[in-house]
Amino acid sequence: MRTISDIAELRRILADVRRQEQRIALVPTMGNLHAGHLALVEAARARADVVVATIFVNPLQFGPNEDLDAYPRTLADDQAGLSAAGCDLLFTPSTATIYPRGLEAQTRVCVPGVSEGLCGASRPGHFDGVSTIVTMLFNLVQPDIACFGEKDYQQLMVIRRLVIDLHLPIEIVGVPIVRADDGLALSSRNGYLNAEQRARAPGLYRTLCELRDELLAGRPPSIAVDTALARLSERGFEPEYLEVRRAGDLGPLGEDSRDAVLLAAARLGPARLIDNLTVRLP
Ligand code: PAJ
Repeated sequence: MRTISDIAELRRILADVRRQEQRIALVPTMGNLHAGHLALVEAARARADVVVATIFVNPLQFGPNEDLDAYPRTLADDQAGLSAAGCDLLFTPSTATIYPRGLEAQTRVCVPGVSEGLCGASRPGHFDGVSTIVTMLFNLVQPDIACFGEKDYQQLMVIRRLVIDLHLPIEIVGVPIVRADDGLALSSRNGYLNAEQRARAPGLYRTLCELRDELLAGRPPSIAVDTALARLSERGFEPEYLEVRRAGDLGPLGEDSRDAVLLAAARLGPARLIDNLTVRLP
C-alpha cells in the first residue's frame, strides 16, 4: 500500500489506473481505524480493482466546542490495518492542502432537508462540513463506488442525496454496523470512555433493541420512545435525541410506513455516542 499526501501525485496515480479501465473504490475516514472502518475496506475490495482510503480529520465538520484537537491520530497502526485489509492507496492530505485559503473562505456544499434535525440539530454546520469534504474527495479520486458505514445513518442519507442532486456517477455502498461482542457499535470515540463508562455503553444499543421489540409488539411509537428515553437516563446516559423515522429518507413515520429506523444520540461521560437500528414494522 502506498501512502501519499500530495494532490498532484494522487491524480497522476489514479489517471494511470483509469487508463487501464480499473474500477476505483473510495473509503473516506478520519483515521483511528477499527474493525468498522476495515469492514468498509473489505466491502470496497470486493467491488473494485483499486481501493483508495483517505484519512483526514476534517476541521470543517467539527463545532467550536467539539473534539477536533483531542481526536485520536494513530497513523502507523492505521496504515498496518488498511494494508492488511487490502487497501492499495492511502491519501492523507494536510489541512493546508485541503483548505489552502482557510475554513472561512471555503466554498461549501449543503444538502438541505435530510441534514436537518437529529445530529444536524445539535451540531450546526456539521453536515455541511461532511458534504463539502466528501464532494472534494469524490472530485479528487473520481471513484466508481464509495463505501460508508450505516453507523452514521444520517451521514449516509446526506451522501446518497448529494450524489443524486449533483448527478455524480458514483455508487454509494452502505455497510452494516460492526459491533463489539456486547453490542456497542465500534467508534473512535469509545476510546474516551473509562472502564465504568465502557461497561455501561452497550446500554444504548440494548435500549434501541428493546424499543424495536416494543414497536414490533404494536406499542404506539410515541409511548415506546418515552419509555426508551427514561431507560437511557436510568442507564447513566444523557440522551440528546431518540427518534423513529422512515428508513429510506429520514422523513416522519407515516401511518403506512413499514421500514423504520430508530436513531439515538446520547452523552456518556466525555463521549457523545450515536447508534441506530432498522426495523420492519408489522
Ligand atoms: P469516521 O468517523 O472515521 O468514519 C469513517 C467511516 O467509517 C464512515 O462511513 C462511518 O460510518 C464508518 N464507520 C464508523 N464506525 C463504524 C462501525 N462501527 N461499523 C460500520 N461502519 C463504521 O464518518 C467520518 O469519519 C467522516 O464524517 C467522513 C465521512 C470521513 C468525512 O470526513
